Amino acid sequence: MTTPGIRPLVAGNWKMNGSLGMAGTLIGDLKARLGQGALPVDLLVCPPFPYLGAVAAALGGSAISLGAQDCHAANSGAHTGDVAAPMLADLGCGYVILGHSERRTDHGESSATVAAKAKAALAAGLTAIVCVGETEAQRNAGEELKVVEKQIVESVPAEANAGNTVIAYEPVWAIGTGKTPTSADVEAMHRHIRALLKQRVTGGAEIRILYGGSVKPGNAAELMAVAEVNGALVGGASLKAEDFWGIAEGAARSAG
Ligand code: 13P
Repeated sequence: MTTPGIRPLVAGNWKMNGSLGMAGTLIGDLKARLGQGALPVDLLVCPPFPYLGAVAAALGGSAISLGAQDCHAANSGAHTGDVAAPMLADLGCGYVILGHSERRTDHGESSATVAAKAKAALAAGLTAIVCVGETEAQRNAGEELKVVEKQIVESVPAEANAGNTVIAYEPVWAIGTGKTPTSADVEAMHRHIRALLKQRVTGGAEIRILYGGSVKPGNAAELMAVAEVNGALVGGASLKAEDFWGIAEGAARSAG
């Protein structure tokens, strides 16, 4: 049992991939699988902004939730190219991924920026999935717990609770590389994050802590069985219904 009483969440981060056609096919396939028997896990897809409306329509009241991959900290205004949290809520999103390492790197997002975005997301009624994780150099230097602690302290707003916030631990060196930490390393990090959440946030004992980074059907059950792992944030393998479903099945097995 990963954390007694916490239902796992398996979330697909499509990143900047896919097409309208692919989105329709993928959602259709997932809904068909769901129709043959639900799993004891929550499912979430996070397509690129332009496909959110079409995916919302395709999901049409299914048990699969919809999320976006970023939002702005302001609710409206002169921010060309940006998208506000209330717009995402308007489209039917329940979640938004914030502070992914690719945004921290590609767009220079600081943890303070991530916290401001998370506040906006929570105010709009969205659940924020706040991403944290160390680089390979930081792990090799033995600094991973310290680095992630700082990211949690600075990125998670005071308003966070189990109903509106999810943490995703994604070691940067495991993203898209096929490499994963050992179960012992995942457990050490997730226990550290759990302890921090309990200290800092109301209901921190119940906040879901996802693992992300090269999760595949073949390693999902093992990773999802680790103590304090409450689901997965999946990149590449979320683009194929068979793989995404295989990961959900792995999480379901581990949830007992
Ligand atoms: P991969 O599953 O492709 O390694 O990506 C993980 C990730 O960054 C999810 O947000």
